[in-house]
Amino acid sequence: MAIKDKVLELLDDNKGKYLSGEQLADTLGCTRGAVWKAVKALQENGYPISAVTNKGYSLDENTDILSLAGIKKYLDPDRQGLEIEVYKEVSSTNLVLKDYANQGVPEGRIVIAGMQTQGRGRLGRSFFSPSDSGLYMSILLRPDMAAADAVKITTAAAVSVALAVEKVSDQKPDIKWVNDIYINGRKICGILTEASFSMENGGLDYAVLGIGVNTYEPEGGFPEAIRDIAGPIFHERKSDMRNKIAAEIINNFMRLYDSFEENSFYPEYRKRLLWVGEKINVIRGSEKTPATMLGADEDCRLHVRYEDGREEYISSGEISI
Ligand code: BTN
Repeated sequence: MAIKDKVLELLDDNKGKYLSGEQLADTLGCTRGAVWKAVKALQENGYPISAVTNKGYSLDENTDILSLAGIKKYLDPDRQGLEIEVYKEVSSTNLVLKDYANQGVPEGRIVIAGMQTQGRGRLGRSFFSPSDSGLYMSILLRPDMAAADAVKITTAAAVSVALAVEKVSDQKPDIKWVNDIYINGRKICGILTEASFSMENGGLDYAVLGIGVNTYEPEGGFPEAIRDIAGPIFHERKSDMRNKIAAEIINNFMRLYDSFEENSFYPEYRKRLLWVGEKINVIRGSEKTPATMLGADEDCRLHVRYEDGREEYISSGEISI
């Protein structure tokens, strides 16, 4: 690890406190000049480090740096063995993991990034993934499961995110069918599961579960096209928050995944489902059909009643209000 990264790690572990140049140099086995150079470079990279004569260096208390060590602090003891990779920037965490999956990497590998240059969304859309304001994460799964049940992975993930966000923010997230997480009418998280099916039995070969969380308002705001839809969980930065959220999502998802056959995610999913009993539009391509939303069944199919009284269970698609 470069000295710069080691200095950052030490300051991050002692956020809000001053560490002297001498202390840092002794711990890292380098010169005070090297520490000073590292701090300067970090400041230039945008890290809020104050340098005070006779006191030393201190990283702002509310700094939120994604890191493996930071995530592990909040992971349940029985999840500490998971193979997690954390990057500042990747093309898409889903793409990285799909490559791994094709190379035969086993289930449970996790890739997390603070920025994506090719973030992938549902229905072939892109997912806005700017630096330093969100959390982009994918988990590789190899479940023994029929292809039709793959939607449950996404649903269990939605429940995991909702529970995680509620725990760290005291806000109550809702789930918009099938898998978008909302707070106060704004989408704070999107989920995309990309699956590969076995040619032999049609079952799942692997699934890459991708979760994108809008933690803070991005610099310059959300792009025009999603400004009325997307929103952040927090309006100000919180110490270590993205590490906490990542760990809590993993803790929750792994627990639900362990008891998948029992549909353990379903009661919580149902409880959080938005617009039950309300008038919605079922969107198919460019066609919008008005209907009443009746709920979602244990297979996560949307249950609607159209204006002519006809009822339908829908496996995929989109709704609006
Ligand atoms: C959507 O709302 O359309 C789904 C968005 C899913 C975004 C996540 S971010 C992590 C993972 N990597 C991607 O490229 N996409 C998913």
